[in-house]
Amino acid sequence: MKTFDVITPIKALDFDELSIQEQNLVEIARDATYRSYAPYSHFRVGAAILLSNGEVVTGANQENAAYPSGTCAERSACFYAHAQYPDARFLKIAIAARGTDGEFVTEPAAPCGACRQALLEYETLAGAPVEILLAGRDKVYRLESVRSTLPLAFDSF
Ligand code: THU
Repeated sequence: MKTFDVITPIKALDFDELSIQEQNLVEIARDATYRSYAPYSHFRVGAAILLSNGEVVTGANQENAAYPSGTCAERSACFYAHAQYPDARFLKIAIAARGTDGEFVTEPAAPCGACRQALLEYETLAGAPVEILLAGRDKVYRLESVRSTLPLAFDSF
């Protein structure tokens, strides 16, 4: 028998250690949390995707009285981005969240499994790693790719 580890490298940075472009993307994701519709969880998530054509597309979680009919910020952003700009590649995504107290979360919120799988599709289309920035109130986690967040990901067959 052989064993192996699957590693998810994460860099924890202060906000001002990010490049100006990354700082802007995080601020846009934070701003998107104010367009979340979360009357049930009161957990407001925003996502901002930087595309190869220079556009930034945002999304925010949209809940529904029939709970599973709602969607996360990341999927609202990535589906909208590809529906709007099918020829553009995803370069980076920033994700921010505000908790039930309305404040930005201290610990960065990570995308759920379904969002990782959805984002992976667009990373595969891009043919290059899509960097992920998970924004907490004072610190940001930088992950090098979507694939690194989804060990043994399902792929098309
Ligand atoms: N949520 C997101 O928007 N992104 C995630 O990756 C995890 C969870 C949303 C879904 C729901 O509206 C709320 O956060 C609470 O789970």
